[in-house]
Amino acid sequence: MAEAEEAKKRDLREGFSVRDLADGAMVLGQIADEDAILVRRGDEVLAVGANCTHYHGMLSHGLVVGDTLRCPLHHACFSLRNILGHRERFDAVPFFWSQHYDVAINYVGHAERWDAIEIDGNLEARDCAVSYKRGGRTLAVATISRDLQSLQTEAVMEAGKS
Ligand code: FES
Repeated sequence: MAEAEEAKKRDLREGFSVRDLADGAMVLGQIADEDAILVRRGDEVLAVGANCTHYHGMLSHGLVVGDTLRCPLHHACFSLRNILGHRERFDAVPFFWSQHYDVAINYVGHAERWDAIEIDGNLEARDCAVSYKRGGRTLAVATISRDLQSLQTEAVMEAGKS
């Protein structure tokens, strides 16, 4: 962390005027020895850890979008309310993409474990869809050169038909 930013951190246990924090703004500080961020959302002030759980991106450099905080590095999305135990359901279908020089890989859904992989198309020709399935249900699909198929897969997953 840059020295200037380190110096800016305040001890959040000492308190400060919420009026100094604009709606949607955040302040970086510390609670005990932990880096933390306070985010104002209307009349509420929400607290989150300051580092992303992925590769420790500095969330203080991220964006507040509605009730979420987006990591500046790879765009992980943190629900500010759920971190405080509101337990609100997040049911949007995950959709990621990554660019590898001239090859873009889209990934729709989420599969931590699967019992079958189906490949439609040709990997070497960079024209394919790889479906990760479990119990006959499609959990995620990675595609190359098949943007429309990715969007159609997302729509099917959103409708709960996969
Ligand atoms: S470090 Fe935050 S998404 Fe990767």
